[in-house]
Amino acid sequence: MEQTNAWWKEAVGYQIYPRSFYDSNNDGIGDLNGIREKLPYLVDLGIDFIWINPIYASPNVDNGYDISDYEAILDEFGTMEEFDLLLEEAHAHGIKIIMDLVINHSSDQHEWFIESKKSLDNPYRDYYIWADGTPDNQPPSKWESIFGGSIWAYDEETQQYYMHVFAKEQPDLNWENEALKNEVFAMIKRWLDKGIDGFRLDAISHIKKAPYQTKPANHPFDPFMNVPGIETHLEDLRDLFNQYDIMTVGEASGVSATQAPKWVGEDGYFNMIFEFDHISLWNKEETGNLDVVQLKHALATWQLALDGQGWNALYMENHDVPRSVSAFGNDTDYWQESAKAIALMYFFLQGTPFIYQGQEIGMTNYPYTSIDEIDAVDSRAFYFRLLEEGRTNEEALRIVGKTTRDNSRTPMQWTADKHAGFSKQKPWLLTNPNAVEINVDRQKDEAESILNFYKKLIAVRKNSDTLIYGSFTHYLAKHPQVFVYERSLADEHYLVVVNLTETPAVVEFPEEISTYHWTPILGNQTPGTSIEKIITLNPYEAQLFARGVAR
Ligand code: GLC
Ligand code: CA
Repeated sequence: MEQTNAWWKEAVGYQIYPRSFYDSNNDGIGDLNGIREKLPYLVDLGIDFIWINPIYASPNVDNGYDISDYEAILDEFGTMEEFDLLLEEAHAHGIKIIMDLVINHSSDQHEWFIESKKSLDNPYRDYYIWADGTPDNQPPSKWESIFGGSIWAYDEETQQYYMHVFAKEQPDLNWENEALKNEVFAMIKRWLDKGIDGFRLDAISHIKKAPYQTKPANHPFDPFMNVPGIETHLEDLRDLFNQYDIMTVGEASGVSATQAPKWVGEDGYFNMIFEFDHISLWNKEETGNLDVVQLKHALATWQLALDGQGWNALYMENHDVPRSVSAFGNDTDYWQESAKAIALMYFFLQGTPFIYQGQEIGMTNYPYTSIDEIDAVDSRAFYFRLLEEGRTNEEALRIVGKTTRDNSRTPMQWTADKHAGFSKQKPWLLTNPNAVEINVDRQKDEAESILNFYKKLIAVRKNSDTLIYGSFTHYLAKHPQVFVYERSLADEHYLVVVNLTETPAVVEFPEEISTYHWTPILGNQTPGTSIEKIITLNPYEAQLFARGVAR
């Protein structure tokens, strides 16, 4: 089935983690003026919108995902006037702004929660989820929080428990309370009326909770992840969003590819969602080699499930996962090749590609040597849990170092200077020592750099309706090394061929491919392997071809 056209389908996004992007006033923390100063860089890269992680007032227990005032800017980041200026200048540059919307929970410092805590009959009490303990004063349910430990925290004052799906400083909002819901919707409306271009909805599949007696069936988070009944709230959100020409992308853990058309179809709740099936594939304690077949399966399943039914959000990195070149590629021997291979591999799938800051220069994981170098609340807790389980410091650090989301939060590497040109002051989080080698300054002048490769990917995609709207066909699904897929629209066909391993790969193409001539359009090797019936690809070789006449 054909896809209808929309600006957000043709767009390429860039995710900014503001704390680590650019520090304009040298206090060690990235800020709004820093983003504004770098707009020319983003224009040059060719992206169409930025998604900015939360910039609202917050005590920063979870780096801005614990909001104490939805309509104030965090001091460290700047002021509302500076935000307005950023919005205006971004728009003048043709760049749209997508805000992070964190409405599953607030901070425990939010005025609503401060009130809610005061007494059982406070008017704000039911803005949050409170419950009595069991007769022997155990928490109301045995559910586990996503950040570890019980989902319930006990409050001495009123002798009840409140629910927190994430940290205990992030109490969950009670979506079953109309007054709360109305306030949230009014707040959303005020942001949209300001002229922002859309939202990324944080943890949105968690806003509905099952009855507390519910025992997790398959997954420990089942009782508060994509729970039946959530559709009412999502439909209400959709009806509000539909009043604006905006883009919405939901962070939707627990939503399967088969359920996705309901979420992102023509009449769906959002324009697209971030799925987790592919991104979690590296995420094993002792990550060995990447299972290419599984990765392809995850990506292809989403492509096929939404074919003509909805739209994908394409991503290989974000602020919650390690760097893709370290997790999926080889950040030592094949750093440049594998960074480009991963890029080409996901960029031409059907969907809107998101680039996470630093991904476009192949930033890598950080070489951790001590837990003191790690900031993320969940990673620190994980480390101490591992020690309790009897792991040595060395083992625990290796596991946490490999998996921590801090890997992607280190300062953006602009130059080879001290602190990577991010700031003149010691940054809030350690700068990766490889900034001397890996930085924007160097790559902008190198014709074959990863940065320039991304620019080419963006330009090629932008100029092809087929690469944007075309259908997806998966070939050689069982091939253990190579991802091969075709994008087709009317008479136009493109072929993506990527070796995702560090060993040469022999590929025998099916007739549908080998009967045609294929012209190389873009690749990470010169000259690249050309298409014959049987070919051997170099390690991490990645090529895009356009179909010519029959042989
Ligand atoms: C989302 C965010 C993550 C945050 C969590 C709680 O998963 O991406 O960074 O910690 O929600 O808000
Ligand atoms: Ca600053």
